Amino acid sequence: RRIVVIGGGENAEHDVSLATASSVATALRSGGFVVDELTIDRDGTWRRGAEALGARAAGSLAAAVGVIGRADAVFPAVHGPAGEDGTLAALCALAHTPMAGSGLRAGALGMDKWTTKLVAEAAGIPTAPGRLVSAAEIADVEFKTDVVVKPASSGSSFGVALARDASGLREALREAARFDDRILIEEVVAGREVDVAVLREADGRRWAAPPLEIHTSGPFDTRSKYDGSARFSVPADLDDADRAALTGAALRMFDALGCAGVARIDFFLTGYGPVLNEVNTMPGMTAESQVPRMFAAAGLPYEELVARLVDAAAI
Ligand code: DAL
Ligand code: MG
Repeated sequence: RRIVVIGGGENAEHDVSLATASSVATALRSGGFVVDELTIDRDGTWRRGAEALGARAAGSLAAAVGVIGRADAVFPAVHGPAGEDGTLAALCALAHTPMAGSGLRAGALGMDKWTTKLVAEAAGIPTAPGRLVSAAEIADVEFKTDVVVKPASSGSSFGVALARDASGLREALREAARFDDRILIEEVVAGREVDVAVLREADGRRWAAPPLEIHTSGPFDTRSKYDGSARFSVPADLDDADRAALTGAALRMFDALGCAGVARIDFFLTGYGPVLNEVNTMPGMTAESQVPRMFAAAGLPYEELVARLVDAAAI
């Protein structure tokens, strides 16, 4: 079967998406699939392999849609806005091409950390107390206590900062506003960072891999998670009650958003149980990334995981 893998993208996670796409393409080829690699440049121009499909974004998109329309399935390995947020899912749906992973609704809800929080709270899953401000309001925000400032739609911790005083808050808000005009201000949650991966198979059955704990160098070290220096434990060292609470909350969240394919659901494990941090509907998927390592711990090798995601692709 002919599978189109899409990588790159027009956002801060461009390079992370290239890494995911390249690993996924390699895994699919070794599984016997014929792979066509499309890349979205930072300016929106689409490429097929090294060749630009047109001189400008709009013209090259038309050619890319032709390639997508002739594929048996698409694997959209684009993290972040204008990719993971449902944009590519919508494109595949309009082209009537089956796609691996979440559709438009789950992508859009999961990309926005504020709507994710609203869905989680409605589903009975605690999140950090927080509020949403618009970029136009940031000059009026007063510092009261330490907070985490995040663009509502971003990924790989881009634009996320801890603010410990008034000037830190001002700077964090300005930085977040470079990524989104919706900004989330949250209380700091003290807890272990534990992530859960959920896979929905072709038959609709979904299950959670053994959770993974991230050991960062401090209470607010976001970079080490992505530069390869953080240590992961898989499976995380958890007692039965905590494991069941984390897994149950991850499955509930997967269902509440209507996810498909694979999602990584990130928690803080506190003394009062799991607190949801965020949902990634197109999580990092290199062979060394968290999600493949969690499924490997469940006995599902990387190539097989990627093949199952393609088998479960739907319109
Ligand atoms: N957003 C990055 C790719 C992740 O969650 O893995
Ligand atoms: Mg993310």
